[in-house]
Parts: sequence; C-alpha cells; structure tokens
Amino acid sequence: MRIASIVGARPQFIKLAPISQAIKELDDHLEHTIVHTGQHYDPSMSQAIFDGLQIPKPDFNLGVGSASHGAQTGEMIAGLEKILQQQRPDVVLVYGDTNSTLAGALAAVKLDIKVAHLESGLRSFNRRMPEEINRIAADHISDLLLAPTKTAMGHLADEGLSGRSVLVGDVMTDVCFQVRDNILGGSPGVPNTSEYPADYLLATLHRAENTDDPILLRRWLQALQNLDRDVVLVAHPRLVAKAADAGVELQRGAVQAIEPLPYHQLVATVIDSAGVITDSGGLQKEAFLLGRLCTTMRRETEWVETLDNSWNVLASQPSELQKLVNRPVPTAHRVPYYGSGDAAEKSVQLLRETFK
Ligand code: UD1
Repeated sequence: MRIASIVGARPQFIKLAPISQAIKELDDHLEHTIVHTGQHYDPSMSQAIFDGLQIPKPDFNLGVGSASHGAQTGEMIAGLEKILQQQRPDVVLVYGDTNSTLAGALAAVKLDIKVAHLESGLRSFNRRMPEEINRIAADHISDLLLAPTKTAMGHLADEGLSGRSVLVGDVMTDVCFQVRDNILGGSPGVPNTSEYPADYLLATLHRAENTDDPILLRRWLQALQNLDRDVVLVAHPRLVAKAADAGVELQRGAVQAIEPLPYHQLVATVIDSAGVITDSGGLQKEAFLLGRLCTTMRRETEWVETLDNSWNVLASQPSELQKLVNRPVPTAHRVPYYGSGDAAEKSVQLLRETFK
C-alpha cells in the first residue's frame, strides 16, 4: 500500500515526523512518499526541522515559495497534480490548515485519489483567517477525517461529517513528549538556554491577522517591548518582513529577538521559560502539554481545551498583555485532552485498514 504525505510549512514537518516513524515501524509493506510543496524554504523553517527530527528527505520538492494565496495555492495544485498522476498513491495524507493542505487535498480529490486529513475538525469560527477556509474546505473534500480532540469531533458532527471522522488524538503530543523526554533525560545535544535572561517569557507572533495591519503589528510589538518581564521573541520570517515594511524594530525594550529554532530547541526553550506569549496554534498546545502559562494574542482559539483553569488566556488587545502575563500560575491539574502520544500509530493503522 502506498501513502503520499503532502507537507509544505513548518508545523506540517513536525507532524510528519511521528507519522513517518509510525509508517516505518508498523508495516514493511507500507510505502511512504513525501512531497514538499516548498511553501517554507528558509533553512531554519524547513531543513533544520527535517534534520532535527530525522524525517526522511522529501521525494519531491515543488519549490513553490512565497506568493499571494491564489498564486501560491494554484502553483502547488498544478505541481502536485503531475506528481500524483505519476505516483497514483492509494491515499494522500494532508496535514493541518495551510495553503499546502488545501492544495494537496484538492489536487488528489480531482484525480479520484482518496484523501485523509490529519488534524481535522478544528474551527476558530473566524472566516477571515486563511487557515479557517483551508481547514473547512479540506475537511469537506476528504474521505477520512483524523480528529485530534472530542471538540473537533463535535465540529465535524455539526457539519454532517461524523460518518468519515475518527478520534485519533493529537500527533503533536507524540512528538512533543518524545522530544521532552529526550531533553529531560539529558540525551546528547540537549539545547542550552542559559544565554537568555532568567525567568524569560517566550514569544512568537506571525499570524496574518496580527502582522498584516502595520498599526496593529506596531501595537503588539510595543506591548511586548513595554512588558516588565524579559521576552525572547522567536521571529518567524513573516514577522521580520512585515515589521520591516511597517518600519518597526523587533529588538527593543524587553524584547530580545532570535531566529526560528529547530523543534527540540523550541521545546527546551518552552520548558526553561516562565511562560509563553503567542498567536501560534501549536505553541499554545505545547505550553499546555509542558505545563507553562500561555497568553494568546488572538480573539479566539481552536484549541479551546488549553483555556481550562486559565492555563491559556486570550489577549484580544495589546493593552491587555501586561496584566495577563503576570497572572498567577494555576495549580489545577491539566486534563490529557490531546491524547497520550500514540496518535500517529492510530492514524497509520486507520489508513492501512481503510485504504489498503
Ligand atoms: C503559514 C500558514 C500558517 C502557519 C504558518 C506556520 C497559510 C495560509 N498559513 O503561514 O497557518 O501557522 O505557515 O509557520 O498557509 N517566508 C520566508 N521564508 C520562508 C517562509 C515564509 O521568508 O521559508 C516569509 C515570506 O515573507 C512570506 C511570509 O513569510 O511571504 C509568509 O509565508 P507563508 O508561507 O505565506 O505563510 P506563513 O505566514 O508562514
């Protein structure tokens, strides 16, 4: 049986790591083709993640790069169509909610190739987010919906998609716990965070809705820079580009800006931090899984479970940041909403049963 994974952006490479490992471990007869669209191409956003998580080198790289949504997605579909026509896998696996997800699902379904969507059923109910459109469209055209949480299963049921949905847990838990255990076990190459100030807060900011309006971007950055706590800002290339366009410096006041980190280094930086400030979906969850206070620079979150007992809170305005980041750390137990670390194995088993 042949599975083709289509990935293109950093969070998808991270989710691909446990899937490719599970495919290798579960069955000698499973063939896995990896197609990289090239949506993320900077070495720190792509190669460093593949190397750090020992993901096999992609079999194909379309080299699409950055462009407007239509141009980027269209170029991906045209490139993927050629590869899928030639490869004819039994199932195409798409991940998450990026333009690469939508392009992969559309290219496959139009060729009558089965599609499975991993991290299915997430909803922010904010249709202005490009990711919301990508995930709704991918869910509705896919044949198998692999959902990470009960909440996601509920959303899929509300949209009439129960018949195709299965709760498998979250593959991010698999990879996050594996990497955490390696770090805490002191395995060779454990990242060192001692160059950062004591009790630093780890921050990321990259969502289009926060970075594309120069006035709002300036307000978020000023709010971070004016905090009474030290902030290590891991700067996504989109943030660097948009801040330069808006004429705002990243490194100022409380903020020390650094380049994107390989995954194990990011996990170490969360573990050693006093808390997280982010607009990333993945990082909200990593903070929750690793027991760090998170403040999310958005009006809504798809990962609503992280809001339990205020482990995560939403800062809908830059002016709310100062008060929220200084709230007390909850003592409440964190419910294991995101599974126990076997989501990739369950997903691959399901692919095998459903599409062989
Ligand atoms: C994409 C996803 C987003 C995800 C994020 C993770 C979509 C619509 N959005 O956003 O859901 O959270 O990936 O990182 O697919 N750039 C570089 N080098 C790179 C990649 C990007 O410089 O390797 C810069 C370019 O200026 C580019 C901008 O970042 O225009 C945005 O990149 P793009 O791939 O369009 O979306 P992301 O913001 O990364």
